[in-house]
Order: sequence, then structure tokens, then C-alpha cells
Amino acid sequence: MSDQTDKPWAGRFTAPTDAFVEAFTASIGFDKRLYRHDITGSIAHARMLAHVGVLTVDERDKIVNGLQSILQDIEQGNFAWSTELEDVHMNIEARLTDRIGDTGKKLHTGRSRNDQVATDVRLYLRDEIDTLQSELRRLQAGLLELAAKESDTIMPGFTHLQTAQPVTLGHHLLAWFEMLQRDSARLADCRKRVNVMPLGSAALAGTTYPIDRHFTAGELGFDGVCENSLDAVSDRDFAIEFTSAAALIMVHLSRFSEELILWSSAQFNFVDLGDSFCTGSSIMPQKKNPDVPELVRGKTGRIQGHLVSLLTLMKGQPLAYNKDNQEDKEPLFDTIDNLKGCLRLYADMMPQVTFNRAAMREAARRGFSTATDLADYLVRKGVPFRDAHEIVGKAVRYGVDNQLDLAEMPLEVLQSFSTIISDDVFTVLTLEGSVAARNHIGGTAPAQVREAVVRARSRLEE
Ligand code: ARG
Repeated sequence: MSDQTDKPWAGRFTAPTDAFVEAFTASIGFDKRLYRHDITGSIAHARMLAHVGVLTVDERDKIVNGLQSILQDIEQGNFAWSTELEDVHMNIEARLTDRIGDTGKKLHTGRSRNDQVATDVRLYLRDEIDTLQSELRRLQAGLLELAAKESDTIMPGFTHLQTAQPVTLGHHLLAWFEMLQRDSARLADCRKRVNVMPLGSAALAGTTYPIDRHFTAGELGFDGVCENSLDAVSDRDFAIEFTSAAALIMVHLSRFSEELILWSSAQFNFVDLGDSFCTGSSIMPQKKNPDVPELVRGKTGRIQGHLVSLLTLMKGQPLAYNKDNQEDKEPLFDTIDNLKGCLRLYADMMPQVTFNRAAMREAARRGFSTATDLADYLVRKGVPFRDAHEIVGKAVRYGVDNQLDLAEMPLEVLQSFSTIISDDVFTVLTLEGSVAARNHIGGTAPAQVREAVVRARSRLEE
């Protein structure tokens, strides 16, 4: 007789599990966070078993009540998790039998931990995706507020981080909004494949009981059931897809961070991130450091790492379930926790940010940001674009040598580069004229920004 009567597989074994193997193979340290979804899944399974006559109504009620009281215990902190019981599934099932007696042993009829864990993770991830979506939306709504407020604010637009053309800050903020809008669509698409139910696949081949998988799926709010039991217990594509969408959200947050960090430096002086989102230095009294964006940028690395972990975890696995799959949880959970934190911080921080409109305007004025406007002006007067480019290039060269912006050059100087130039040139050389002229859908003109904000608000509600 085995001396490890607590293990569900004790019947087959003659020696107890090595103590370190037990610790090494246990997942309870990290999968206990699935408890609520594990219990929800078990309750639905018990109801389905009664529905098809495998459990009596009385057995079902005992199991459901027992599980509900365990849920309460866990939420009140009255549940001692045990490593000998390996994982969240066996911990809860063992407690159920302790509490309600032998009926508890019937819960696992027609089920395996293989379909159970896949179901739990999907239920859990579905909830987390919904929370992430609302944080994303909160951040997007904040960006729209700011974009509306800054639709007339002029700043330099950059390519190669060199001043390129003037843009409106509202337009820049709307670019961030668009990145997040795609992220949100990716999460919504991923959720469709998360929300399919593995339960009923049992260990790998299905079960001999007359189960009703659609009944269970209906109880749990799944959109459908996994078609193939072998695939259902081994598939972690949904976790990879989610982590991939998460990694891309982090890439976006990291890019916002990079800009905010640059812009909050004394050299740019475009933005003040707000004291509650910065920290000081223990040695340099003048410092106000953009720690939040820096840490968000830093955390992008670990989430990209988690994506690679999950891809690598799956690449060598034969069908169907393998213990390797237990390694899906820590990367997935850490991705969710950190992504949620980063989105929350960004959604909280952005409304606190103040922009230094004067410094942005001054920076746009420097760097010949209206050079393209001058070339376009010459083109409108019949000069071929390549010649216009050459003429303006010479004017810029002169400006660099004499420390003069184009708009600061006297008309006679401008005319020395092309006699076609007349005094109407100054309206195109102003920053306002430059942005207002890019007046089409997707352009930087303040009027377009205001319309884009209106459209974005209704897209956000879709
Ligand atoms: N803790 C396990 C996991 O996370 C549960 C499934 C275990 N199944 C098994 N056949 N050993 O994957």
C-alpha cells in the first residue's frame, strides 16, 4: 500500500514523491490566482453533470454549495494552500471532499486537469482582457481631451529627430491614439479565440460520459466549444496571441515614454509631467526625474521576453498535454500584471501633464521648419519642384550662416534666391499658415485635428 494516500494517483504508485520533485513540480505558488475561475468552471461542470443525469440534483447542490463556501474562505483569507496538493485544482478539490465528504470525489467525473487548467486560464484571461480594454480606453479618452485642448498648439514635427515641419500637438497626440486604437482591436480579436471552451476534452480524447458541452459553455459565457479535444488541451496559441498584443502595446507605451522623457529634459522643455509622477534625486537637488515613463520603457523588455518564452515553450511539444504547459502561467501572469500597471499609470498621468506651448512654438520656429512651405509656394508660382527645392536649400544655407530663420529674412534677401518671391510669401512662412495649409483628412491643420477628435470619440464608443 502506498504511504502517499493524499495523492490522487497513489493507487498506481509504491514510492512517495521525492520531496524536491514535489516542490519542483508544484504550481500552487503561482496558479492559486486562478481560484475564482477554477471554482466557476467546477460549478458549471457539476451543473452540467446533473443536467445529463451523471450527478443527482442533491449531489450537484452539495458540490455547488461546498465550492461556494470554499470561494468565500479563500476570499476571506481562510484557506491554507498546500504544496503537497501541487496546484490550485487539487487544492480546491481536496478541500471540497474534506468539507462535503465522498460526494466531493464525484466532481472530477468526465474531466481532467488538462481540460480544467486550459479552461481556467481562458476564463481568467478573458476577464483580464476586459479590464485591460477599459484601462486602454481610459488612456485613449484622456489623449482625446488633451488633443482637443492642444489642437492649435504648434510644435516641431520630427523626422530622424531633426526638425522637419511644424505640426500641431493635438495631431501628435492623435497619432498616439491611433496606435492604441489598433491595440484595442487586436485585444478584441484575440478575445474571440480566448473565449472558446476546452472543457469536455478531458485528458486528451474526450470522455465516455454523455456530457453536454454546450450546456457548460452557456453557463460559463463561452462563445463556443473547442472542436478537437487533442488541440483543446494542448493549445496555448491564445496566450501567445495575447502576449504578442501585449508586447505591441508595450512597444507603443515605450515610444510615448521615450518622447516624454526627451520632452521633459531641460534641452527640450516641452512638457512637465507633474510632481506626483516624478521622483527626485538623493544627491542632486535640482532633479525631477521622469521615472514612470522610464520604468514603462524598461518593462517593455520583460514583456517582449515573455512572448519569446511562450513561443519557445510551445515549439517542441508533441500533442497533447505536456507538463511543459504549466510554464505558460508565469510569463502570462507577469505580462498581465505589468501591462495593467503601465496602462493604469499612463491613464492617470496623461491628464496631469502640462505642455510648454511657448517652448514648443519657439522650437518650431527654429530649424527652418517652413522650408517645405516655401518650396510649395514656388511650385504654386510655376517653378518645378526640384528647382524650388534647390532655391530653398540655398536660402536655408544662407540662414544657417547668418542665424536667420526664413521668416526673419527681409524680402530682398529672399528675392536674391528667386525673383518670383513677393511679399505674399510671409503668410506661408508663418507656423500658423504652414499647419493650416495641411487641411485634409489625416493632416495636421487645427481644423482637421478638431474633426479627428470628434470622429475618434465616436470610434472609441464603438
Ligand atoms: N498545474 C498543471 C498545469 O498548470 C495542471 C494540469 C496538470 N495535468 C497533468 N496531467 N499533470 O498545467
